[in-house]
Amino acid sequence: MRLTGNARLAGIMGWPVGHSRSPALHGFWLDEHGIDGAYVPLAVRPERLERALRALPALGFRGCNLTIPHKQAALAIVERVEPMARRIGAINTIVVGEDGSLEGRNTDAYGFREHLSETAPEWDPRGGAAVVLGAGGAARAVVAALQETGLRDIRLLNRTRERAEILAADLADGMAGIAVGDWNSRAAALRDAGLVVNTTSLGMHGQPPLDLDLDGLPPRAVVVDIVYVPLETPLLAAARRRGHTAVDGLGMLLHQGRPGFEAWFGAPARVTPALRAAILDTLR
Ligand code: ATR
Repeated sequence: MRLTGNARLAGIMGWPVGHSRSPALHGFWLDEHGIDGAYVPLAVRPERLERALRALPALGFRGCNLTIPHKQAALAIVERVEPMARRIGAINTIVVGEDGSLEGRNTDAYGFREHLSETAPEWDPRGGAAVVLGAGGAARAVVAALQETGLRDIRLLNRTRERAEILAADLADGMAGIAVGDWNSRAAALRDAGLVVNTTSLGMHGQPPLDLDLDGLPPRAVVVDIVYVPLETPLLAAARRRGHTAVDGLGMLLHQGRPGFEAWFGAPARVTPALRAAILDTLR
């Protein structure tokens, strides 16, 4: 697509930013629609985040995504923060308003839920507890997403228990309980569970696999890994062998990009097999 002087602009700020797949993701959608627009990587040092964000309206950008290390710092800079981003404590999407103000959103929880409902439509939040492993930024989005489904029993286990306790205290909402458990009791926590989500980096290329005995997991339970390199982690392979629905991490990455694309470029962002194949290609 050739750009004209009227091209719509968006991008992703990170430091470093070279690892990000977002330019490929948004580039795919821009090409698909033949939109006169561009989505560019923006390497922004942490100490320049505020200046860079303030420059967005001045440069005519419609908005941007944020990645490491900017997701928390941006909360204190933007004019408005959507309730979900406030809950999670991080912003991954910024939309520039007509008046030049910045609105911060977090679309990770949305991405997780959309992918889960697409890949495991049979999953029922009333069908048993959800076991969430890990307590980093990704775990926050996953827990917030699960709370929105009305799920009442979330079991949170992290190697560093204190981090899980902080997450549980931050996200407690009086409706859905978050029970913190010991990392070493993770196999026992699977009893009666309807969903297991790995949000740790274990199983990722170059990392040891997640050591989790699935024997106690009810057969109908769905197993999700948010790791996407490799797409089929040892956890997902083991889950599939036992007959569980296994949900990979790539879909969450693809779906989280949709709200931003639609807001900036005004066209639908669809997650299709062709898109999955194109992004998988960039991961090889
Ligand atoms: P993200 O924001 O992507 O979730 P993160 O904040 O670095 O990333 O979190 C990584 C998660 O993987 C944490 O829950 C971490 O556990 P700790 O809080 O104890 O550090 C977990 N993790 C990483 N390596 C691990 C390992 N070898 N064993 C168990 N958990 C591990």
